[in-house]
Amino acid sequence: MKKLMAANWKMYKTREEAAMTIASLKLAVGLPPADREVLVFAPFTAIECVSACLGGADGYAVGGQDLYPAVEGAFTGEISPGQLKDAGATWVLTGHSERRHILGESDELVGRKTAFALSQGLKVVLCIGETLAEREAGQLQAVLARQLKEGLAGVPGDVSAADLAIAYEPVWAIGTGKVAGPAEILEAHATVRAQLAQLLTTGSNLRILYGGSVKPDNTAEIISLDNVDGVLVGGASLQAESFSRIVLA
Ligand code: 13P
Repeated sequence: MKKLMAANWKMYKTREEAAMTIASLKLAVGLPPADREVLVFAPFTAIECVSACLGGADGYAVGGQDLYPAVEGAFTGEISPGQLKDAGATWVLTGHSERRHILGESDELVGRKTAFALSQGLKVVLCIGETLAEREAGQLQAVLARQLKEGLAGVPGDVSAADLAIAYEPVWAIGTGKVAGPAEILEAHATVRAQLAQLLTTGSNLRILYGGSVKPDNTAEIISLDNVDGVLVGGASLQAESFSRIVLA
């Protein structure tokens, strides 16, 4: 399966900035290498524009950063899978640590979002990861196991590996410049792989992305590690210059 090279733009970029970044990215990357897939998680207001700028280019896709698990209804401020698809999204993120820790999302809600998005035909990157306090308390394995079990609770056991990926993003490495070392990534990804194999019949084929201070100069090493099938990039994905170097690393 292709490595998934994903940008998470978080709450950055107007439509014009998004269009300029996508135009520069396409110029710098061209047709992505045969073993790479490029994915941009844009803010809701820029999804349609990113989709139009991509113009169906091979090897690129756009996603939303969150969704609400209902078809429609009185859910002020929320967005449905159908609305995301209508704007051009084919993917969505669930369980990002900023939603868990700043917006207070529970494992249970993340699980409902993940299952519902898949049932509505969106592909999902489910994010998991431990805080520094949890790591220091020796809870790495337990936290990852709980987040995976609850995050995948409603997901069919035979979900296609093309439709679902997991992003391991240690909270202490997000936006801090502190990238997890190879040993830490290997240990966490092996744990995720073992859990996935228990939870899903397709678990050994799902892609597991690493996220947390990924930069152009550390990408090649990170994606060469066992069980690392791509990256989820925040800060270094905002500029086409640095994200294109990550995609091509
Ligand atoms: P940074 O790459 O800025 O550390 O962010 C990682 C992240 O949260 C991607 O979802």
